[in-house]
Amino acid sequence: MTRLRPVVMADAERLGDWRRDPEAGGEFQWFGYMLGGDLKKRIEDGTVIDRVDGGMLAITDDEGQLVGDVSWTRRGYSPIAGSEAWNIGIVILTEHRGRGHGSAAQRLVADYLFAHSPANRVEATTDSANVAEQRALEKAGFTREGVLRGAQFRGGRWNDLAVYSKLRGE
Ligand SMILES: CC(C)(COP(=O)(O)OP(=O)(O)OC[C@H]1O[C@@H](n2cnc3c(N)ncnc32)[C@H](O)[C@@H]1OP(=O)(O)O)[C@@H](O)C(=O)NCCC(=O)NCCS
Repeated sequence: MTRLRPVVMADAERLGDWRRDPEAGGEFQWFGYMLGGDLKKRIEDGTVIDRVDGGMLAITDDEGQLVGDVSWTRRGYSPIAGSEAWNIGIVILTEHRGRGHGSAAQRLVADYLFAHSPANRVEATTDSANVAEQRALEKAGFTREGVLRGAQFRGGRWNDLAVYSKLRGE
């Protein structure tokens, strides 16, 4: 079964694969080398889960083996306090892709965020050509809302992003 748990120092190296290795990032998650990631520092000083701005959880499989991470950041849509949404992101380690962890983990993190914050909306954006992530979000109960045209620079060009969301109670 796919589970979520806090990230520990032993996870940090593998969870940074996609920042150092174009193959680990793959077609839709390679943004060039990002060697200065501060994940280890955030684990060390206990800010990897920040109740206000966002956080990250490790994803594990049946055997408790690390298979990836899922993270969330705050998006404000109104000056009224409490109207923030969470925008989630996910990376499954290359050898564990295509086994259902991506869909299960995104369902679990939405449940987690609705249980532990008053947010009404959990959203995700992904390249409009990233079929695996779009399918994973749909399987996790997210609804496609539309396309952000030319929103993300990656791989030498501007790319369209598909927008998905799940509202409290859905
Ligand atoms: C996208 C990603 C999170 C999906 O997680 P996953 O565990 O590999 O996906 P799942 O096994 O849950 O599969 C979800 C659905 O996508 C389909 N799928 C998986 N890989 C696919 C691929 N390469 N092409 C097309 N469909 C694919 C699955 O068949 C499944 O649909 P189905 O049940 O109808 O058959 C994962 O592949 C990944 O981390 N990719 C690289 C990073 C990335 O793209 N992150 C998202 C960036 S916003």
